[in-house]
Amino acid sequence: MSNYHIKHLEEYLQVYRKSINHPEKFWEELAEENFVWRKKWDSVLEWDFEKPDVKWFQGAKLNITENCIDRHLLTRGEKTALLFEPNDPNEPAEHITYNQLSVRVNQFANVLKSKGIQKGDRVCVYLPMIPELSIAVLACARIGAIHSVVFAGFSSTALATRINDADCKMVITSDGAYRGNKTIDLKGIVDEGLEKCTTVDSVLVVKRIHSEIQMKSGRDFWVQPLLDKAATVCPIEIMDAEDPLFILYTSGSTGMPKGMVHTTAGYMVYTAYTFKNAFQYKENDVYWCTADIGWITGHSYIVYGPLANGATSVIFEGVPSYPDFGRFWEVVQKHKVNQFYTAPTAIRALAKYGTDFVDRYDLSSLKVLGSVGEPINEEAWHWYNDNVGKKKSPIIDTWWQTETGGMMITPIPYITPTKPTYATLPFIGIQPCLMDENGNELKGGQAEGRLCIKFPWPSIARTIWGNHQRYKETYFSAYKNNYFTGDGALRDEVGYYRITGRVDDVVIVSGHNLGTAPIEDAINEHPKVVESAIVGFPHDIKGSALYGYVILKDTGQERDPDNLRKEINQIITEHIGPIAKLDKIQFTEGLPKTRSGKIMRRILRKIAANEMESIGDISTLLNPEVVESIIENRL
Ligand code: WT7
Repeated sequence: MSNYHIKHLEEYLQVYRKSINHPEKFWEELAEENFVWRKKWDSVLEWDFEKPDVKWFQGAKLNITENCIDRHLLTRGEKTALLFEPNDPNEPAEHITYNQLSVRVNQFANVLKSKGIQKGDRVCVYLPMIPELSIAVLACARIGAIHSVVFAGFSSTALATRINDADCKMVITSDGAYRGNKTIDLKGIVDEGLEKCTTVDSVLVVKRIHSEIQMKSGRDFWVQPLLDKAATVCPIEIMDAEDPLFILYTSGSTGMPKGMVHTTAGYMVYTAYTFKNAFQYKENDVYWCTADIGWITGHSYIVYGPLANGATSVIFEGVPSYPDFGRFWEVVQKHKVNQFYTAPTAIRALAKYGTDFVDRYDLSSLKVLGSVGEPINEEAWHWYNDNVGKKKSPIIDTWWQTETGGMMITPIPYITPTKPTYATLPFIGIQPCLMDENGNELKGGQAEGRLCIKFPWPSIARTIWGNHQRYKETYFSAYKNNYFTGDGALRDEVGYYRITGRVDDVVIVSGHNLGTAPIEDAINEHPKVVESAIVGFPHDIKGSALYGYVILKDTGQERDPDNLRKEINQIITEHIGPIAKLDKIQFTEGLPKTRSGKIMRRILRKIAANEMESIGDISTLLNPEVVESIIENRL
């Protein structure tokens, strides 16, 4: 028995033990009984965290789209696979059945082929949350092309950086995007980005907002006429278990974003298994994750995990505030959503408007509420639990990362007793541990330290695209033979984990993972800026927001500081995107530095958080006097 569906606490404990004591046997049975393989593996797991090198199901052959689409056609052909809810509530929702999804993915795959895309080629997908985003992703997977989805909120520079890093041959985009009462000129952003790229031969354009756009002859193609002509059958490319499925960029604490590479078989097995259990998904449930497919949450838990289970997955184009702050709850009522998965920042933003908007709608369909992306604070947890779940839908606080591919620490609803602000217990197969600053594991019950994972799981990212050395340094060098998450955590007396937040220079703003270094690099390009340092500070809605300390060339009084602040945020918007804008910008004459010239961000963090009493000893600094002046001029 593979225990694909965990139904009670004793079973969880028993299966967990089995997955730890006999991991290969456990995953082998699970993989064998629940997926379609063209050839079985020669070995279940080979790993070495020193190199690092991880391989799951080596030698197996499969295609993930056969598992997400084809195998459902006989039994679920007329079931809704994707339920598209447009930005405008007056535009009708679209139910795409598994049969229809199959036709559309096959046609799209044939269009990719007709434009010369082959197995192993990289295709950049830069689309709003419309069905074509999932379809394009699945079409790539069907022919073995490696998709690199770039969130459509990123700027042209950020897009170009990602296209160039992966040497993408094609970009799939749309004329534009709807976002609340605004439209965004996506094609214009792509055109600007492509001025800095040389590897892209073709751009496929989906028509969404019917705006006037430039089409570059020989490069740009409207996709619909090509789809109309395309055959509705495209045979699967038979992939090796360890062939890359996709690249997805995430910020690092330094420099370039990291192109995390996920491979085929392990990712499929783990995302499917976690989806089924963490949401307790049952046939005919309607599942809705509000994330964008441009993030890992969307890859794993809008597209692959749900479809591998033959689920109905909602794709929401809109925003929580349009036409008003009741939009989420209106959609829950309209589609009788059973599992709802969102981010704490959205909950806090909605809670600000009280319960009127929630109370207006019938939310009785809800069975499970999910949270992801950042720690959920106690207040937000209770608001979600009381007003959305009416105290009857368990909240699953799911901790995981782009790098982990799937959920790592999460309650299983109706099985694991929940505890506000705790992600609770490791999922099946996951072996977390806590380390002290000297690299020693903190054994026993209660402890607080840095969160590591001891043993590989099937959906761990295998490398950073084009930079295996950086992969090793970032994740496998801090603690020998352990994967280091970059997060701090504490463990309570019963073994529940609570994630306390990042311990590196990554700040999570509204659930978006932002490295401070690339933002500093962007600011430093402003002609008036000499140097800058960015830190996170607590924010009611966003969780964390960004505080910038900026040294200007003219040390005298800046004549128009507010205008300069605007210009700085403009540069950030151009280089990264509006999500990385600074909430506060303090101009300063200096930054606290160590004698070796390193900026003391710890001190800057304390000042930004208004925790001056715990700044500690500054006498060893190169320039202790500067701290006083920064505090005096604090915003
Ligand atoms: C970082 C990863 C996982 C998909 C979305 C974010 C933080 C994520 C939680 C949670 C506390 C969380 C961590 C992690 N994080 N979920 N439930 N509780 N913190 O993916 O952009 O790769 O960010 O998000 O700090 O390291 P990501």
